[in-house]
Amino acid sequence: PVTAGILVSGRGSNMEALLRAVAAGCLSAHVAVVVSDNPEAPALGKARRYGVETVVADRRAYPDRTAQEGAVASALMVRGVELVLLAGYMRLLRGPLLAAYPGRILNIHPALLPAFPGLHAQRQALDHGAKVAGCTVHFVDAGTDMGPIVLQAAVPVLEDDTEETLAARILVAEHRLYPAAVQLYAEGRLVLEGRRVRILPPPRDRSSRP
Ligand code: GAR
Repeated sequence: PVTAGILVSGRGSNMEALLRAVAAGCLSAHVAVVVSDNPEAPALGKARRYGVETVVADRRAYPDRTAQEGAVASALMVRGVELVLLAGYMRLLRGPLLAAYPGRILNIHPALLPAFPGLHAQRQALDHGAKVAGCTVHFVDAGTDMGPIVLQAAVPVLEDDTEETLAARILVAEHRLYPAAVQLYAEGRLVLEGRRVRILPPPRDRSSRP
């Protein structure tokens, strides 16, 4: 299994979906550590209940953002983390993590990228009168929510949706999509080809020919 580290800032429901999938044997990953930039994140307590080590890298404890991110990268590297999973980590990456983990950082975003990057994606979708919304798992690069797309799931926008009802519908899809995308990575089935991600078929389809 791939050794993963999960980065969180808040509630941690996507983190929990990943940890649940690992516990259920649906995801061949070992989560070595959960790192939060926010000491108050409810995600930290949830991670400990799954027996996962937690680390806090509080922005206020470091001279600047780059130093904080360097501490996050070190915490991951010393624990042998191979794959970094951003799960509601509300901080733009500034360099150290991208340098330490090129092509090995995934993020989940609550919109059908490249539409509605950044904050309040669900509100942006409503403000634009979108009829379809959804979520995207993508590789992280230097752009904001702009890296190569791995998987997407769509949900309808309903006539009387509020930001909350739409976010809740998207979140259900997120909790299925993220473990599925990480499992593809763990199986070595994601191939980065420039801006595109090619998804290889399962190994049995590749080897056995009648
Ligand atoms: C999720 O909806 C995630 O897609 C979003 O924040 C929420 C975190 O919830 N991420 C972003 O908007 C990143 N730009 P969670 O902490 O319960 O997983």
